Amino acid sequence: MLKIEKKHSLTKYTTLKVSSTADYFAIVKNKNELLEAIAFARAKKQLIFILGGGSNVLLSKTIKGLVIKNEMQGIKVVEKNKSLVLVEASSGEIWSKFVSYTVENKFYGLENLFLIYGTVGAAPVQNIGAYGVELKDCFHHLSAIDLKTGNEKIFSANDCRFGYRDSIFKNKLKGRYFIYSVTVALLRKPDFKLGYGSIGEALKLKGIKKPTAYDVIKTIEEIRNSKLPNPFILPNAGSFFKNPEVNLQTFKNLFVKYPDMPSFQINRSKFKIPAGWLIEQAGLKGKKFGPVRMYEKQALILVNEGGASSKQVLNLVAKVKLAVKKKFGLDLSEEVNII
Ligand code: EPU
Repeated sequence: MLKIEKKHSLTKYTTLKVSSTADYFAIVKNKNELLEAIAFARAKKQLIFILGGGSNVLLSKTIKGLVIKNEMQGIKVVEKNKSLVLVEASSGEIWSKFVSYTVENKFYGLENLFLIYGTVGAAPVQNIGAYGVELKDCFHHLSAIDLKTGNEKIFSANDCRFGYRDSIFKNKLKGRYFIYSVTVALLRKPDFKLGYGSIGEALKLKGIKKPTAYDVIKTIEEIRNSKLPNPFILPNAGSFFKNPEVNLQTFKNLFVKYPDMPSFQINRSKFKIPAGWLIEQAGLKGKKFGPVRMYEKQALILVNEGGASSKQVLNLVAKVKLAVKKKFGLDLSEEVNII
């Protein structure tokens, strides 16, 4: 029988650790428990909010409705041929544990996404990405339950409308579905993407010419740990903002003024400017406002030294946006989901 708690604290369930309380709260470990939770919310006319690893959310002080913490577990191979393998993971699995499973089994493709915090279910919502790889590159399909009807639906990659840290689940279908499993298509032979950033160089420096998948994830772990704070030690929610995309004219105008500005070209007329650089140039890197600050080694990460309220976080978010707008005329938008 599903246990539903009233006025339950959510603070320990998010990596940013701001204080928040849910009107109702339940942990679900399988489909039956999920259906029970949906029925409860319907009977009580409560909204439903799904919480995975809590690594990409800023929760407000009180969450009206039923918060469902997803702890559905299980990983299995569903199809295999000479070159490809389809692996299905339940949405409550820890994402990095899933990547480790694929590495141990010599299934290739997810290496660059190692050590991204959060659960499997959140990966397609955000279309998580790092070091030149995004989930969409290996995504096959997902199964979800419609929170309105209880019906099941399969979503192909096309149905998900993946974009940069974006999908249909952040837009048109926000809050509508509970994703309960994600299936990825992985390679049986390695084809590592080492060209982005410092991965290839770091491997060379270590004298590794023909890396194994384990060498790649170990190197990624070292790079990430040197720049990004461990949320279990210093609470944070990863990149707080997206890197803004600008057109060719805006890029040229900025480049004339700031020739050292880093950028990534997306296509002939679109460029991404690192928000971390913009925030640093705007003078907010490492500056403390009460218990919150933009991290001193990577200004894109907002950290909570302890005890911050969502209001204090939002005040800093507003300061950062204003400073970047004033200096560069660019609008930052949040990558973190604000609820
Ligand atoms: N930079 C600065 N100052 C800073 C931070 C960065 O000048 O304080 C400069 C760096 O020197 C570099 C550039 O900005 O020239 C890009 O920095 P970095 O390589 O650290 O990557 P990022 O664009 O800031 C993105 C993702 C990260 C992902 C890394 C590596 C977004 C919003 N963030 O960060 O994703 O790990 O690339 O691929 O796209 C996340 O989504 O939570 C996340 C951590």
